[in-house]
Amino acid sequence: MSMHTITFFASKGGSGRTIATMALASGFLAQGKRVAVMDCTDLAGSNPSGPHPSTLQNWIKQMAACKFRPPRLELIECRTPEEVEDSAAAADERGIDILLIDTAARIREPQIAALGVADLVIAPAISPFEARCILDGIDEYLGPTEDLMCLVNGCRNGAAEAVETRRTFGHHAVFPSELPWAEALSDQILNGDIGHFTASLACRPDKPGFARYREAQFAWTAVQRFAFEVEFALNGHRLESFDGLSAYPIKRKAVA
Ligand SMILES: Nc1ncnc2c1ncn2[C@@H]1O[C@H](COP(=O)(O)OP(=O)(O)O)[C@@H](O)[C@H]1O
Ligand SMILES: [Mg+2]
Repeated sequence: MSMHTITFFASKGGSGRTIATMALASGFLAQGKRVAVMDCTDLAGSNPSGPHPSTLQNWIKQMAACKFRPPRLELIECRTPEEVEDSAAAADERGIDILLIDTAARIREPQIAALGVADLVIAPAISPFEARCILDGIDEYLGPTEDLMCLVNGCRNGAAEAVETRRTFGHHAVFPSELPWAEALSDQILNGDIGHFTASLACRPDKPGFARYREAQFAWTAVQRFAFEVEFALNGHRLESFDGLSAYPIKRKAVA
């Protein structure tokens, strides 16, 4: 079996784990992969038809409205370490290509199991503050690991803050691409699939909705780029930022 498992980790709430989980699911679905999302937060096991369905339960309903249903997309909810391990093994058995695990900020036994089954741990941060909290969490729960990559997710206060967030991650590997701060990302529970949402906004440049369409398109492009970088990372590659000085200069043919 060849399923890849990705666990989102942040030892602070509001770092963008759930947003990034949903976004990455859309990115991989667009590649034709079979995706399972595992809820390993305190909301796992909410009653989906009760007064307070979980974020991911709401999202999966909207995804179904966008025509992503089992076996292409599934939601799994786990409350114990045994459930995490058994559900991951069963998902692999069923032919799921990618398992994405959303975790709670408080790291307890189920979350430790979720980190244990991961091929790759992604730590998102929306500002330098979250990034600093994540660094402490990494020291406490992960230790030195090759299988961790950090993500600059949607810095609300602009490019300088994104640069600072990236710098705060220090020596840890950080995805070159970033997710923007965008409605298409924050409103996935309302709109479901980002690609679908973007397509629904499509209009010509002279129309009033064009700015909104462009913003969604920008976010959707970033999500797809991010999904490819994640796939690269899963295959053991790390993309270094390009400084313009290639180690393998392209030899130009002399033109006669
Ligand atoms: N890229 C983004 N663009 C817009 N809003 C975002 C983005 N990332 C996170 N948010 C917002 O930040 C808040 C926290 O994100 P969330 O994914 O719920 O964090 P976590 O799951 O780590 O607690 C949410 O209200 C969400 O809408
Ligand atoms: Mg969350």
